[in-house]
Amino acid sequence: MSPATNRKPRSRSHQRQFPAAASPGPETKNQKPKTKNQKLPLIVALTGASGSIYGIRLLQRLRAFPAIETHLVISRNAEKVIALETDWTPARIRKLADRCWDPGELAAPIASGSFRTSGMAIAPCSIKTLAAVAGCHAADLVSRAADVTLKERRPLVLLVRETPLHVGHLRCMLEAAQAGAVILPPVPAFYARPRSVADLVDQTVGKVLDVLGLDDPDYRRWRGV
Ligand SMILES: Cc1cc2nc3c(=O)[nH]c(=O)nc-3n(C[C@H](O)[C@H](O)[C@H](O)COP(=O)(O)O)c2cc1C
Repeated sequence: MSPATNRKPRSRSHQRQFPAAASPGPETKNQKPKTKNQKLPLIVALTGASGSIYGIRLLQRLRAFPAIETHLVISRNAEKVIALETDWTPARIRKLADRCWDPGELAAPIASGSFRTSGMAIAPCSIKTLAAVAGCHAADLVSRAADVTLKERRPLVLLVRETPLHVGHLRCMLEAAQAGAVILPPVPAFYARPRSVADLVDQTVGKVLDVLGLDDPDYRRWRGV
């Protein structure tokens, strides 16, 4: 069991918008904080696909939203990929979150629909986890929290990363989308004239925040020509 981590108060304050844009269902009304100071949990999971930096950057950006309480799960395979493709350690990444859970911790609050959250992002999302979500195979905390997010009609964003894709991958994406997930592969847009990998990552992370109903002031929007 991983103990929850505490972190320093965030310095920047940005407006939090409720409800989340991707989930205009009846539940969203009830997800508003009861008081001004009550934080709204948001689940972030990193799985073993390439692109750990998306989850890391998402956690960094979320620190700018004081109303959000981040709940982080890092899968075992994500820990391996993080070590292979970044200079980060899981311990350092966990410091970016408000609360952290072990992937085996199926009694965590985020495993229950009665624990209200504003949604969940799996960034990056492996095909294995995508298949678990599509098939309702809630064997670990990542897939269980995702399943709960869907059943409660809250926004679930999946940054599925694999290429090329065979028909089984595409079928899983369709099934997850039919259940309500937003399939958001980290596909770069070049009209924003990215100058670095960080620019590409931030563009995708801005999109994720948008889907979760969070207005990132640094997200470069297309203003037309
Ligand atoms: C360096 C590395 C990169 C990987 N990249 C991907 C990937 O981009 N997409 C994917 O679906 N799986 C990828 N995998 C395989 C997953 O880690 C593997 O399927 C694992 O079972 C996923 O488990 P999880 O979803 O519980 O994290 C990669 C594995 C390694 C070691």
